[in-house]
Amino acid sequence: MSTTRNVAVFVGSLRKESLNRKMAKALIEMAPAPLQLEIVEIGHLPFFNEDFEAALPQVVTDFQARVRAADAVLFVTPEYNRSTPPALKNAIDIASRPYGKSAWDGKPGAVISVSPGATGGFAANHHLRQSMVFLNVPMLQQPEAYLGGAHKLFDESGTLTDERTRAFLQKFLAAYAQWIERNRAR
Ligand SMILES: Cc1cc2nc3c(=O)[nH]c(=O)nc-3n(C[C@H](O)[C@H](O)[C@H](O)COP(=O)(O)O)c2cc1C
Repeated sequence: MSTTRNVAVFVGSLRKESLNRKMAKALIEMAPAPLQLEIVEIGHLPFFNEDFEAALPQVVTDFQARVRAADAVLFVTPEYNRSTPPALKNAIDIASRPYGKSAWDGKPGAVISVSPGATGGFAANHHLRQSMVFLNVPMLQQPEAYLGGAHKLFDESGTLTDERTRAFLQKFLAAYAQWIERNRAR
């Protein structure tokens, strides 16, 4: 029997009816046995300020500890003006400091970008990857996940009803499970 891997999921949108949150919930429901996915909230975090580092607020240390406790990290994000949304970038920055003590270090990562638009959040996906290079987060390379036309993928209750997308996500999660085993900190 394989060991459970706890995967922290970060949703880049704070919107109540967020397509990205719906996608994250679909991923939680369909994740294969070794993967246990859980959404880690980011909407309550303050804007990062280096002055925090003199005495880190509890909300910051709690978030850093939650990231540190994860075996792996998965980002599900929209694209804002061809980049990563500020709430998500802020969360990434918060857990990256103080310098040399990043909570992200070495966690196997993956990103799924989700947009109603045709390009599927490609730019947000790659801007996020750029930060992960610096933060030493090995990011799943294939399959790439740019999910466009996302407003057509769910029913009224928020259930992912598009079978092609479901099949793709099953493949994605299987590849990510392998990626975690290959790249996890020993
Ligand atoms: C400030 C802002 C900028 C946006 N820029 C882009 C963009 O560059 N590319 C894109 O595909 N969609 C863009 N959108 C549309 C979002 O993809 C759309 O609102 C999407 O539903 C947001 O994700 P959510 O449903 O998870 O909240 C933008 C939306 C906002 C609010």
